[in-house]
Amino acid sequence: MCGVFGYVGQSTDVGDAVVTALKTLEYRGYDSWGIAVSTPDRLIIDKSVGRINGHHRAYPEGCIGFGHTRWATHGGATRANAHPHRDCSGSIAVVHNGIIENHTALRAALIARGHQFTSETDSEIVAHLVEEQLATGESFASAVADSFDRLHGYNAIVVMDRVGQQLAATKCVSPLVIGQGALASTIASDSIALRGHADQLVFLEDHHLAVLTKNGTDFYERSTMKPLSPCAIPNNNRQESIELGDYPDFLSKEVSEQPGTLRRLIDEAHQEITELAVKLRAAKRVVLVGSGTAGNAAIAGTYVFSQLCRRDVSFFPASEFRYRSAILDSESLVIALSQSGETVDVLDAMTDARARGSQLAAIVNSPNSTLNRFVETSVMLRAGVEQCVLATKSYTAMLAVLLLTAYEVREEWDRGAAAVGRATEAVEHVLDRERQAHMFQIARDFADAGNLFVIGRGVHYASALEAALKIKEVSYIHAEGFAAGELKHGVIALIEPGTPCLVFAPQDGTRTDVLTGASELRSRGAKIIGVGSVDDEAFNEFIYIQDAGVATPIVEAVPGQLLGYAAALARGNDPDRPRNLAKSVTVK
Ligand code: F6R
Repeated sequence: MCGVFGYVGQSTDVGDAVVTALKTLEYRGYDSWGIAVSTPDRLIIDKSVGRINGHHRAYPEGCIGFGHTRWATHGGATRANAHPHRDCSGSIAVVHNGIIENHTALRAALIARGHQFTSETDSEIVAHLVEEQLATGESFASAVADSFDRLHGYNAIVVMDRVGQQLAATKCVSPLVIGQGALASTIASDSIALRGHADQLVFLEDHHLAVLTKNGTDFYERSTMKPLSPCAIPNNNRQESIELGDYPDFLSKEVSEQPGTLRRLIDEAHQEITELAVKLRAAKRVVLVGSGTAGNAAIAGTYVFSQLCRRDVSFFPASEFRYRSAILDSESLVIALSQSGETVDVLDAMTDARARGSQLAAIVNSPNSTLNRFVETSVMLRAGVEQCVLATKSYTAMLAVLLLTAYEVREEWDRGAAAVGRATEAVEHVLDRERQAHMFQIARDFADAGNLFVIGRGVHYASALEAALKIKEVSYIHAEGFAAGELKHGVIALIEPGTPCLVFAPQDGTRTDVLTGASELRSRGAKIIGVGSVDDEAFNEFIYIQDAGVATPIVEAVPGQLLGYAAALARGNDPDRPRNLAKSVTVK
């Protein structure tokens, strides 16, 4: 989850380069941050609890520096636990992403051998391990390699050697990318941080080690330290906009970008979707895999393929995949859905699926992601960088890709494109200023509620799950989504006078039954907020959205996003950086 950036090169204002890059990586963790700038005779470390955004400070001149934005796993969000961490001598510093699973034993052994720890983190172990290896006379690069080999789990480390003015980096699963530019060698946990520094990128492989000096980057096979020449690819991140522009936050910006993303998919994604549809037709069994919002899109997909293609497509939550994967074989197709392409549970699931000989495909937003490089077939979401921790435009893009794929399986691309086109217009309509103001008013009215329930039937059950997720993660109101028919089997006991309930009531075969559920809730005092294209007497409030036929779930996503946003603002929460979350979940 944590953000990592390192720089070795010509600039003497390395502190500024590190701080600027960390601001773009803040979405990966924002409990605390820290940077180190090295001059030949001293190592300056600056750390703080909270967000780095807004931080300005001049650091001494130097040509080597690195930094970290943290999402705490071991040890609270304190200044002492913020990275970088140093060895006992103070000349080795480390930043780390991941979880060192055997940290308890390693730490105890290091303490027994006289090392002094200054933090509660698992990460600090690395600095002391490197210190010990160096004391045996090993080179810095070998010391880092041997230290890393003693760590269990998915980890990425960057280690700074102040004396040698170099960085060494290596990893297992957790991503690291090296940037090669005219003025600097750089490294980051996401290539987005290398904008402006690198023309070429090298994605570090698990068994490789990189050493960055002012002369460039050398690569080695970690086990043998044999030199390597890995392939570099052009850095195409340079063009992508990651600025806020006139928007107050990334959440409102990204919600408003949805029509553009949907149009891009219709215009540009046909070829990729055709390839996915060919695989889908050929497969005996199809499984969708994803986490969180991507998992909700996948649940919608299971309904779409059943309705439109008469295909039994399953959804396995990524973190549960391995407990169900025994049924997969070479005739199975596993399609991963992921915005970041770095979610570790998704990558684990795909590794498991590959071991079972299954065909692999992805529906993914980040072109440079590990997932995109792992699979044979992928459809890019074309949503642009999603900076806000909440997934919004990537969700509606996933729904559109699933729908377009289902139509392509039927060899009816034009009908699919027309359906998504209709949804695009309906999304524009619901984003209209007046409609937004109405939703803001509704959200302000429920902003103090303790519980909120969301119901839908059929594919709109996925809309209910997603609306509840959006509302809870940013407003911190306890919100749960249910298949409407399940309510009376227990959940209805939680309804009290005034409990807000959002009801997806579209103009399709689910309407009559979902309205019955709404009436049952209302009879028990719930305040019903209907979402659909026709009002009903069961509703206390009504959010009008245009009907988009089979593509209506794309439109239904927007009220959940805006209600969550408005409730967050009403409660004084940061809409882009909700508490306890991080965007790219690279730990288990
Ligand atoms: C919710 C949210 C998360 C992600 C989940 C998967 O708004 O952002 O639930 O959807 O962590 O992330 P990706 O799609 O990057 O695999």
